[in-house]
Amino acid sequence: MNDAIAVENLTEEQAQAELARLAAELDRANTAYHAEDAPEISDADYDRLKRRNAEIEARFPQLKRADSPSEQVGARPADGFTKITHAVRMLSLGNAFDDGDVAAFDQSIRKYLGLGADTGLSYTAEPKIDGLSLSLRYESGQLVQAATRGDGAVGENVTANALTIADIPERIDGAPEVLEVRGEVYMSHEDFAALNARQEESGGKSFANPRNAAAGSLRQLDASITRDRPLRFFAYAWGETSEPLAGTQTDAINRLGALGFQINPLTRRCESPAEMIAHYHNIEDQRATLGYDIDGVVYKVDDLALQHRLGFRSTTPRWAIAHKFPAELAWTRLEAIDIQVGRTGALSPVARLTPVTVGGVVVSNATLHNEDYVAGRDANGEEIRGGKDIRVGDWVQVYRAGDVIPKVADVDLSKRPQNSEPYAFPTRCPECNSEAVREVGDAVRRCVGGIICPAQAMEKLKHFVSRKAFDIEGLGAKQIEMFFDDELLPVKTPVDIFTLQSRDADNLAKLANRKGWGEQSARNLWDAIDEKRTIQFGRLLFALGIRHVGEAASTLIARHYGNWSAFESAVTAASGFEGPEWDELLAIDGVGEVMARALVSAFAQETERASIDALVTRLTVLDEERPQSDGSPVAGLTVVFTGTLEKMTRAEAKARAESLGAKVAGSVSKKTDLLVAGPGAGSKAKKADELGIRTLDEDGWLELIGDA
Ligand code: IVH
Repeated sequence: MNDAIAVENLTEEQAQAELARLAAELDRANTAYHAEDAPEISDADYDRLKRRNAEIEARFPQLKRADSPSEQVGARPADGFTKITHAVRMLSLGNAFDDGDVAAFDQSIRKYLGLGADTGLSYTAEPKIDGLSLSLRYESGQLVQAATRGDGAVGENVTANALTIADIPERIDGAPEVLEVRGEVYMSHEDFAALNARQEESGGKSFANPRNAAAGSLRQLDASITRDRPLRFFAYAWGETSEPLAGTQTDAINRLGALGFQINPLTRRCESPAEMIAHYHNIEDQRATLGYDIDGVVYKVDDLALQHRLGFRSTTPRWAIAHKFPAELAWTRLEAIDIQVGRTGALSPVARLTPVTVGGVVVSNATLHNEDYVAGRDANGEEIRGGKDIRVGDWVQVYRAGDVIPKVADVDLSKRPQNSEPYAFPTRCPECNSEAVREVGDAVRRCVGGIICPAQAMEKLKHFVSRKAFDIEGLGAKQIEMFFDDELLPVKTPVDIFTLQSRDADNLAKLANRKGWGEQSARNLWDAIDEKRTIQFGRLLFALGIRHVGEAASTLIARHYGNWSAFESAVTAASGFEGPEWDELLAIDGVGEVMARALVSAFAQETERASIDALVTRLTVLDEERPQSDGSPVAGLTVVFTGTLEKMTRAEAKARAESLGAKVAGSVSKKTDLLVAGPGAGSKAKKADELGIRTLDEDGWLELIGDA
């Protein structure tokens, strides 16, 4: 985030660009968190982005976007479940970060209600459970529907799943005719650890934290899986009710308790902000021993008539706020700096620490990001931490926010050992001794060994079998580590996975005799591998783990070329980074020069190419279909745009053509079907003429595609 410019100094243009960036970033974070259960940024960073967005919008209200993140709660529901429109929207909470924010919350409520500073005003204070919210609809005492929050308006129907949770009663007696009970589904620390241990053993996905485990377990299309995952539920709110539950929040919650729901025992009534803050610290003190994750304390106006008067802003109630816990910090000794080598050869420094408890979690490793970070510089060469470097033996501050990897944030120079030396970042790969080089503009030093480097080869394999790549059941990161170093059945490159069975006659026995394996599990693995011998082109490309070539780009590239052999000959022909094939690659929307170079280089590198070719001969690669373009007059045609376009930008023209199933190329060749030439067209128009290629002007093109 560009915090460098204070909001008051932003120009309108800068503000607009930043709002666009924040919307995209928050959207991505929302999807990762809610729809994929795999958060990419910490809660603290997320809150920071949201606050920055709100500040800019407050200063430039005219720039507020139609898709403004401040109007959104969570992310859209994932496909697969039926959708439920909530009778009463499920909202989010505003945040308080310090005592001043709590006082301001009380003052704003008094102001809104016209209450003087001396008028009594009660609140409740209770833990903010770090799980996922759920709305349970009871009609005549019978649970008829359970829905996740989704985007606040529409959630997912998880009724069958909710029914497997012991804390959720199927029937309740003495409740209003219609009652929607709302609360949080969560997983205890103990159950989380046991689940992850089981998942690891069976080669399944392990979860980053209890909240993701709870979300992943609840949102199972097969409810019998949910049944095997020990989920719990705390009730703390309600949606539609056919008659009022009570006169106060306290009584309403107690009534939910009497109806058979779990309510949080740390809920208190408070008569002033000072009491609220005292209870906040009380809860904070118990945080590490609660046995489940909480990330703050929620305050609510106790009187429900006042809650009703206060009502809601667009996404948050005026009568409640979440007082967040600060990110956790602790000081400890840096015992060593290890270098880990990643899939693309990146050398990442990792801090080995004297174990220390940070917010109830024992931390013994933390990230040091990269060479510059250790040296006390940022990517632009500017000082960070006041220029203090980090040395082995230093007394360092460890920072943990939510569920992200802990990092070393600061160093105490007064405790630096006398004889300490600046850390010398290695210039050779610690795994394979190849040179480790840092290219201009790259923050990262990389091993140039490619798949000769065992660390890179292993990480590439782990990526190859990961969920969005080959996703082979029973062959996860742990099994890859076992096979990689196996003497009898080694797997060093992807093709080795597909030759495991055919390498020699008694390999089934070799595997079955291994500790933890048997004949059945070995057979299961063979079957799982066989199942993945047929693969979609785009997925295969992503699985290769080529630097810069991510999942989305792989799909775009695969769609462009349609089939593997067309793609393969094109990237091979582009090896000189010039010529029509190179231009064509660059012309694909979403493929930039950096990515194109990485792709072409990977196919030009001898060992890597041999490994890819060997793999492909063992697979059936399915063609990648272009998106729906039924009845399109240009489907399948190769089109080149040249000259100035007046009614659209080049990017727009390209995207439109591609959405109609055309292939857009950067230069004219015999394969070109159509040239669209605007004013100022030069050599391309001439060449098209020579080759007898059909040429249209911009209007002719628009007419052809029906956009005129
Ligand atoms: S009250 C109208 N109470 O926090 C607001 N929410 O950040 C109703 N949450 O969506 C929510 N513990 O999923 C409330 N004790 C608690 C909570 C709580 C956790 C979650 C809930 C909400 C989110 C907002």
